[in-house]
Amino acid sequence: MGLLRQHIALVGMMGCGKSTVGRNLADWLGTHFEDTDARIEFEQGISTPEMFERLGEAHFRTLERQALQDALATPPCVISTGGGLFADPENRQRLQNQAVVIYLKATPEHLYERVRHARGRPLLQTEDPLSTLRDLLESRTPSYEQASYTVDVENLDASRVTQYILSLPIFSKSL
Ligand code: S3P
Repeated sequence: MGLLRQHIALVGMMGCGKSTVGRNLADWLGTHFEDTDARIEFEQGISTPEMFERLGEAHFRTLERQALQDALATPPCVISTGGGLFADPENRQRLQNQAVVIYLKATPEHLYERVRHARGRPLLQTEDPLSTLRDLLESRTPSYEQASYTVDVENLDASRVTQYILSLPIFSKSL
């Protein structure tokens, strides 16, 4: 049985380390790990880029809302979210009511270094992905800032980010 009484949700841009940190955190806490993108891919049986191409972003966002509801319906756990999920008001409300939300913050330059060689980010298939990242981050920052905690991940590797999160006061109260 896990330690948590409430979900822990990680939000932030593509490349900020939500999935790696989320998995580490779940291991440390002895809870299960949910990843909304992985849940959608598993249920649809296709990759996220294929989904964007075949079904369109709007449809992906509908599936994403459902994936979040399904993840929140499981026993308290660690949930890693897709980069756009917390920018949606309905998702934001749901997470604020049902989870402790942690924003993993990084600059566009740092994010770009982390995603530039990776495939699977349909929103970055543009002529200038760094500037796309800048624009997306700018428009999403007011949403991300509504998280309960912000962790600047710029100079920390995933295990340090995990340790930092575990040192937050939320855990001393045994959630
Ligand atoms: C998206 C981020 C992706 C994935 C989809 C859209 C976004 O998740 O949900 O490609 O809107 O920023 P990651 O943040 O895990 O890359």
